[in-house]
Amino acid sequence: MDDALVERIRSDMEYEFARTAPPEGFPAFHDIPTARHTTEEFHRIEAEHLWPRTWVIAGRAEQIPDPGDFFTFDDLGVPLLVVRGTDGEVNCFYNTCQHRGAPVVRGTTGSSRRLRCQYHSWTYEIDGGTLVSVPDERDFVGLDLTERCLPRARCDTYAGFVFVNRDLDAPDLSDWIGPAREMLDPFDGGALREVYRESRVIPCNWKVTAEAFLEVYHFRHIHSHDGVSVLDNRGAAMGLYPNGHSRMITPYSKQNVDRSGMGSWDDWEHLDTAPMPAIGGVPAMVDCTSTAVSLFPNVIIPLGRIGFPINVFWPIDAGTTRLDWIYYAPPPDGADRFDPDDLPDHWRTRRAAYDQIMAEDEMNMGPMQSSMESPALTGMPINYQERRIWHLHEQIDRIIGVENIPAEMRVEQLLEPYVER
Ligand code: FES
Ligand SMILES: [Fe+2]
Repeated sequence: MDDALVERIRSDMEYEFARTAPPEGFPAFHDIPTARHTTEEFHRIEAEHLWPRTWVIAGRAEQIPDPGDFFTFDDLGVPLLVVRGTDGEVNCFYNTCQHRGAPVVRGTTGSSRRLRCQYHSWTYEIDGGTLVSVPDERDFVGLDLTERCLPRARCDTYAGFVFVNRDLDAPDLSDWIGPAREMLDPFDGGALREVYRESRVIPCNWKVTAEAFLEVYHFRHIHSHDGVSVLDNRGAAMGLYPNGHSRMITPYSKQNVDRSGMGSWDDWEHLDTAPMPAIGGVPAMVDCTSTAVSLFPNVIIPLGRIGFPINVFWPIDAGTTRLDWIYYAPPPDGADRFDPDDLPDHWRTRRAAYDQIMAEDEMNMGPMQSSMESPALTGMPINYQERRIWHLHEQIDRIIGVENIPAEMRVEQLLEPYVER
């Protein structure tokens, strides 16, 4: 987030405030078919073609600081395990023994220089998943150990997050994140630690949860308090990145500008964050706007100079989602972690405020799903302010492969000319 980017965002906001219609030539969207959110069929298509082919966050590098440290990861619907190799690299394997299919590791975390299945002790090494020992090997006829390695998934880290991708042919993680890094690099994510986490099971499709964080069209309608909305959606500056990622920076409303003692919506100054340490090198814009980035497919990050939560959406079935939010921040002085059960008062206050916003968003989601399932709605018109939602859907179709989606459930590929390279 260098000065040039901040300047570009500021002038985008000026443009957004001043415009009287979408930009000249901006495409008209057809309705997004509600079948994408409501049908078993689309859920099955996503399960088969989307989730096995996309990078997702599985955990944090600091969970596994030493060689042999591992954690399991089941949110993609198949049991995986992430282990720090002897060379310090982070590896991901399927947690399925190649003998008779027992889980290779039990429990969700642990440490072991070798992965020894508890059923008959087939043993794998942690760098390549090579099968290195089989008890009573003489009793297997023609067993070739080299053909029985633990199957791998792709695994890499960025900003302290461990990402996995089941697709061995997927692009490298750094290419996948691409220019969206300009938003995240300044936060030195690797130095942050988990403050606390919350998890809710919500009766709606995972895209209903994701979409709620991709626009601020709804903001003043459900997040106002005493008639005051802290943000002005009309000035929201959005950027579409390759691979479905995007950013959105929303200025303060007039009322909030006045209340904050700012001269104007772009009177951006670093605020005093004490007693919370501030992350260095983050522009003042972040203190005086809502600045958020989304990582396709299922992560939204509202950035802050004291740290940030990640909101993560995991489909359970077509109409049920697990919504997690996990807050990361620089650890307290002299400590290398937070104690979520004994947070200092300033963090309890921050937590209550963030959880309140999440509750306001969540309130909408279950009712929306039941309502969308009604024959009263077959498609959703999307406006220019909601274009990040369209961008999400386009990328979903690109990953799935348009040919794998029934014609009436597709979205048209329209936004390519607006993607920043
Ligand atoms: S199932 Fe793992 S050793 Fe038999
Ligand atoms: Fe919201």
